[in-house]
Amino acid sequence: MDHIFKSLKEQNVNPGLLEAIAQFREKYPVEENLKRRINVPVLPYYGRDTFEMAAAALLQGENILLTGTKATGKNILAENLAYVFGRPSWNISFHVNMDSSALIGTDTFRDNEVQLRTGPVYDCAVAGGFGIFDEVNMAKNDAVSVLHATLDYRRILDVPGYDKIELHEAARFIGTMNYGYAGTRELNEALVSRFLVIEMPAPTEKTLTYILTNLFPDFKKEGLKQISGLFLDLQTKANNNEISTKPLDLRGLIGALKTVRAGLAPRRAIRMGIVNKSFDLFERELVEDIVMTRIPESWTPAEIFGAE
Ligand SMILES: Nc1ncnc2c1ncn2[C@@H]1O[C@H](COP(=O)(O)OP(=O)(O)OP(=O)(O)O)[C@@H](O)[C@H]1O
Ligand SMILES: [Mg+2]
Repeated sequence: MDHIFKSLKEQNVNPGLLEAIAQFREKYPVEENLKRRINVPVLPYYGRDTFEMAAAALLQGENILLTGTKATGKNILAENLAYVFGRPSWNISFHVNMDSSALIGTDTFRDNEVQLRTGPVYDCAVAGGFGIFDEVNMAKNDAVSVLHATLDYRRILDVPGYDKIELHEAARFIGTMNYGYAGTRELNEALVSRFLVIEMPAPTEKTLTYILTNLFPDFKKEGLKQISGLFLDLQTKANNNEISTKPLDLRGLIGALKTVRAGLAPRRAIRMGIVNKSFDLFERELVEDIVMTRIPESWTPAEIFGAE
């Protein structure tokens, strides 16, 4: 049993659900040439309730949309799901200039004739893959409207100028979106209606402890307490609108901790990963003050990592 399945067990994920997933894997074996598309996630996703909701929806043939602020584990969860379900996956980044042909395919001239060069949604649909629509609300609505029949009960992909194809039974789509990020737009109702929507929870002390000790097994007790305390302080301030969500960046915190591991003083590391994420001078000072109460200037990497 690898670290992903082990983590699901540790988190007491509903055994009935895990059994149903195992049956799904057995029912839909993967062809040899697609195995390279099954990726073992680097990190387990932590969050039992969210995992259970997502897995139950996928088992019932639904597509899911993961919404939440930055670094709440949307991509980690999507990768974990594809892996646990034993499916090859396609990561498809949505962006403002994307059109439907980037999803489905384009005409190319090959062997003296016009042929379809298939796009990722097409390949995924045929292979019974899990397609991850990353930042789905970055794309223009008309670019994604071609997916309506793909995402609802019809399960077909209409390829203009070619045939209609039916989706493989195991194909699923997982959208991620970060509501309110610069550049995002409102998803149209027709599209949202084709997904079950899961709101990613903000990390709690328990989540942080799990994630951080998973990444840094020799985290010292006091160091961990202050680092996760710092994150939770920032979260409270952001919830109270005292600061923006810019410095509330778990990804940045993890990046900073890596530089501590490399020998950098914790305060300087936190400056790069957290404080400087805010470009407003006033806010930056506020954040620096919060950091000061948690992480003494004198701390060295030995206060954070090492044997106790
Ligand atoms: N619940 C969680 N379980 C495991 N890791 C998590 C979780 N939440 C956040 N992380 C950590 O946060 C980092 C970012 O995760 P991920 O890229 O999945 O976030 P995201 O929600 O897709 O963010 P964005 O909206 O910015 O794309 C990961 O490296 C991971 O370490
Ligand atoms: Mg993401």
